[in-house]
Amino acid sequence: MPSIDDSKCVLITGGTSGIGRALALDIAKLPSHPKVIATGRRKDRLDELSAAGLQAEYLDLSADTTALKKSVDDLIARYPDLDTVILNAGIQHQVKAKDGIDMKKITEEIHVNYISVVAFISYILPHFLKLSEAGRPTFIVTVTSGLAVVPLAAVANYSASKAALSSFTLSLRAQLAETNVNVLEIVPPLVESELHDPYGTTEALSKFWMPLDEFTRLTVNGLREGRATIADGTSKALVEKYNQGKFEAVMQGRKMTEKW
Ligand SMILES: NC(=O)c1ccc[n+]([C@@H]2O[C@H](COP(=O)([O-])OP(=O)(O)OC[C@H]3O[C@@H](n4cnc5c(N)ncnc54)[C@H](OP(=O)(O)O)[C@@H]3O)[C@@H](O)[C@H]2O)c1
Repeated sequence: MPSIDDSKCVLITGGTSGIGRALALDIAKLPSHPKVIATGRRKDRLDELSAAGLQAEYLDLSADTTALKKSVDDLIARYPDLDTVILNAGIQHQVKAKDGIDMKKITEEIHVNYISVVAFISYILPHFLKLSEAGRPTFIVTVTSGLAVVPLAAVANYSASKAALSSFTLSLRAQLAETNVNVLEIVPPLVESELHDPYGTTEALSKFWMPLDEFTRLTVNGLREGRATIADGTSKALVEKYNQGKFEAVMQGRKMTEKW
């Protein structure tokens, strides 16, 4: 089964903190020593990654899709061996419906968590299909959330953005099933990171979250085993309870609509 051990060059978005940074540093240490490109916006963090021996690249996922296409084309030109993308960057806002829903925040969250990911996939896919036709396995890895399976009301739009991404991931996996482009999904549980810092909930959440090093170890194991859905901790139970047989059903739907 193809796995991250076959990857020659791995790009991780949101590599400047939390899950993305930890995955980038650990993937770079794999026995196969892939080249790792960590992207983000914070320059001091990018410099630190560069000093640790990674390729660090500025990438703003809030940018419009034309600017994003230019960035992806430029990355492909500079890293023609790029065969794996872990689309990890994400943001989270709270929604308090009774106080009024802030549409600016809703739009920003959908753009970063969903639209920019689908746009990135659409711009990288021709390159991956070409590598795949030449016999090279390639990997598109999305990072969703246990909240994609069961939403948390306090972060209603975040949960919806992750559910949309999870759904798109399953459809993409079905469409690319006969190619060498492998579509994987990481479904993190609550994990130690900076994601919740803007709301002052970090201290309360730290009593429940999975330590970052444990999450990283389990996730890298999942990637090395080539698991299509990598869900550990509380996410494992959610996926087992609510998503059993889901991909098989998506494949059945694909069969029924093959002539569309
Ligand atoms: N931690 C959890 O409990 C948890 C649970 C389930 C799912 N997740 C998901 O896991 C992923 C990583 O989250 P995390 O917990 O590691 O959060 P984090 O520590 O806040 O990291 C988020 C990363 O995304 C990048 N980012 C945010 N907005 C961006 C933008 N507009 N353009 C480019 N990069 C942007 C940030 O980099 P810059 O600020 O430098 O750009 C940062 O590197 C997210 O998709 C999150 O939804 C997290």
